[in-house]
This record gives sequence, structure tokens and C-alpha cells, in this order.
Amino acid sequence: MTHGRWRITRRGLLQGAGALAGLAVLPGGAKAADYRLVAAPSRVRLVPEPHPETEAWAYDGMVPGPTLRARRGTRLRVAVENRLPQPTTVHWHGLRVPNAMDGVPHVTQAPIEPGATFVYKFDLPDVGTFWYHPHAQSSEQLGRGLKGALIVDELEPPAVDRDIVWVLDDWRLTRAAAIAEFGNMMDMSHAGRIGNTVTINGRVPERFGVRAGERIRLRLVNAANARIFALRFAGHAPQVIALDGQPVAPHRAEDDRVVLGPGMRADVILDVKPEPGAAFAVTDDYYPRAAYQLVELAAGPEPALSRPDRTIPILSPNPVAVPDLAKATRHRITFAGGMMGSMGAAMLDGRELSMRELMAAGRMWAVNGVVAGAHAMQPMLDLKRGETYLIELVNDTAWPHPIHLHGHVFRVLARDGAAVPRAEWGDSVLLEPRTRADIAFVADNPGDWMLHCHVLEHQEGGMMALIRVA
Ligand code: C2O
Ligand code: CU
Repeated sequence: MTHGRWRITRRGLLQGAGALAGLAVLPGGAKAADYRLVAAPSRVRLVPEPHPETEAWAYDGMVPGPTLRARRGTRLRVAVENRLPQPTTVHWHGLRVPNAMDGVPHVTQAPIEPGATFVYKFDLPDVGTFWYHPHAQSSEQLGRGLKGALIVDELEPPAVDRDIVWVLDDWRLTRAAAIAEFGNMMDMSHAGRIGNTVTINGRVPERFGVRAGERIRLRLVNAANARIFALRFAGHAPQVIALDGQPVAPHRAEDDRVVLGPGMRADVILDVKPEPGAAFAVTDDYYPRAAYQLVELAAGPEPALSRPDRTIPILSPNPVAVPDLAKATRHRITFAGGMMGSMGAAMLDGRELSMRELMAAGRMWAVNGVVAGAHAMQPMLDLKRGETYLIELVNDTAWPHPIHLHGHVFRVLARDGAAVPRAEWGDSVLLEPRTRADIAFVADNPGDWMLHCHVLEHQEGGMMALIRVA
């Protein structure tokens, strides 16, 4: 694995800090944030010299794309221009947007053809750490670099010394630092396209400069196609204050390890040890036999900042409807397929195919016995607007799957039948092999919404479904 050679550049840091573009005041005092994103091929430096630069696909020439930042209550307007050689869309991951703005090609909008522009416009009801990415040919488009963070700030953000975004990514590069080809069946049928080069904000990092004693709000975004991260901060006990952008009762990460499946985010408070000149390793050991050092936190020589008040800030909840469990309608959704699974056959485009026939068709994952195919998708579930649903998600496979729902946030109530301590809110839940989770939510956003695995090669291999709220 390539890692640990280069320091995050100033540009990387600036990107991570984000820029406010074109803030305007609407009549009535509400703010509008106006952005333009151009998706186009671009050369970027992911890995250090003497390696060459990498021919990537980027928003505004940057990988990740610019951090879009606005305050809660703002109306966001983003004009997306497609200069890629194929159609694209943008999905606003985790944001509860109107269906027509959700960016799912052929479901919520026509794809943005090369040369065309589409303008997304929506209000921002929730604060938190979100992200944006294409929802067309996702494995390739994200795998080539199209993604960026989207931060919705609290009206009164908690006091910290620095608010930092780390967009974590994983690339499969050749020796010439070129992006390896897509469409690998081994990836699709196993763990997805796990790469060989991990970046923070688009750079293979070596050191991340900190000030002794400072309090950092670190927003972690897993923007990788398939890699799951489990981060440890040596000598530190990060306090989790939000998951998937949704506030959660502050707590130490279990085993002091922050686990993020693709698509997932965590906001943590990191109180850097008051030891000038000290260095602390940040390691990722999700795959125990492939643990590595991601980066080192390096404290400068300045005297430690002192912070008399060490209480961890509690974020106020977003205005999400609370599920009424007594009246909930129950459903079970089972994810099956892949190698070393038990799926013998599944439906593809209205025909029952054996696993071997599915593999030959380049699809091998099913949701409730149906493999998402090329034809227009029929809703798997019809939900009544305003009602509470309690859904048991069952991973009947040998692989982990981060399952993501569009348009809503849900509560994770139980895992394998045991209550989850904080019943956290989120838009994704990581299901380890042969486990299940109970989630609940109020179906209050009308439209057809995707439910899919965020391992993009699994999604492409059929692990997605539609849920209709009407
Ligand atoms: Cu982040 Cu359907 O995606
Ligand atoms: Cu999956």
C-alpha cells in the first residue's frame, strides 16, 4: 500500500476549509448560496513526485471538489455543468431535498448530457456534514475523483479552535499513477473496488500539523468506492458528536475507533494533547491484516493552548420527525448475493436467473430477491406519507454493506436484536456480514427514493431498490 509520504499541501488544507462563494440575501432575509460546479477531466497530484500527476475527473479541477458551505435555512443553488465524456448527475448525500433535486438519473431527473448544465436548487433544513457526488456510472465517476464535502453550519456553531474536513478517499492507481480500469467482476462480486492509495483531501498525507492543546472539530467523510475505514488516533479518545451529519449524544467512539463505511460521516471532537512537539499516529485497522498508518498528527513547538472548559459540546437535533413506534408498519429487506453467499437465483428484469446466469450478466446482488437491472425500476415498497416504518435490514451475505437511504434520515434502533445505545440517526447503516439492523423513520418526503449499498460496485451489481413515498 502506498501511504505516508507527503504532507497535506496548503491547497489541500484550503480546500478542506472550504470557501463561501456568492452569498446573497434573498428578500425576507433568508440567505442563498450560489455555486457553479464544472465536472471535467483534470490532472491532479494525488501522489508525490517522482510519480506523475493523475488524469482524474474533477469538480472545478479539484479533487475532492470544492467544499460547499452554507448555514441552515439557506437556499442552495448549484449549477452543474457536465464536461465529462458521459452523462452525469449530482446527488446530495444525506440532505433531505425534494425528490426532483435528488440527482438519480432516470428516476428523479434526466441525466445531464455532456455539454449540458442542470441547476439544483433546494433549502437546507438540517445542519451537518454531508457530501455530494454523481449518481451515474457511480463506480467510475466517483472512482475517478468526482465528490466533495457539503457542510451546513449551525447558526451558533460550538466553540472549537479549528473546524476541519477530511475527505477520505481510496484510489486504485497503476505504477504510473494512472487510475486503473473499471468494470472488474472480482471487485463486484467480492468487497468492491478497494484501492491501493488512500488520500485525505486528495493527497497522500504524511503529517497533519496541529497545535498542542487545541480543540478540533474533525469532520470525517468516507468518499471511497468500497474501502471501510476504522480510525484510531494514538493517545487520543475522539468524542463523537454527530454521525452522518446528524447530532448524537457525545460519546467516545467504541474502542476509540471511528468506523466509517463508504458514504458515512462522523464529526468528532479531538482535544489534542497539550504536548508541544509530540506526534501521534492516525491508523486505520478495519482490515486487520492490512492495517496502516494514514497520517501523523504533528504538534508544533508553540506552547499548548489551554482550555479550561473541557465539556464536549452537544449539538441540537435537526428537525427530523420522530418515529411513532407504537404505530409503525414493519417490513423486512434482505440483501443477498455475492461470492460465498447462499443466493441460488434472483429476478433480473422480470426473469428468474441462476447465480451463474446473473454473473454472466454482470450482476450478482439482490434486494428481496430482485437484482436491479437495466429497465426502469419498480418500487420495492410503497410507503404512506407521514407514517412510521420499522424496517429490518438483513445482510444475508458474506460481505459488509453500508446501506444508504435517500431523502430521509432514520434511527438505528437495534442490531441483531439488541438495542443500540444511542439509537443514532443517520442515512446509512453498516451491516457486517450476516448481521441485521432495525431502522425506523417517518416516511415524510414524497417521491421515489433509492435504497442501496454504497459499495458502488455492489450497487452497480444490482444491490439497489426503490422505495416510493406517496
Ligand atoms: Cu451517496 Cu445513492 O448515494
Ligand atoms: Cu454492498
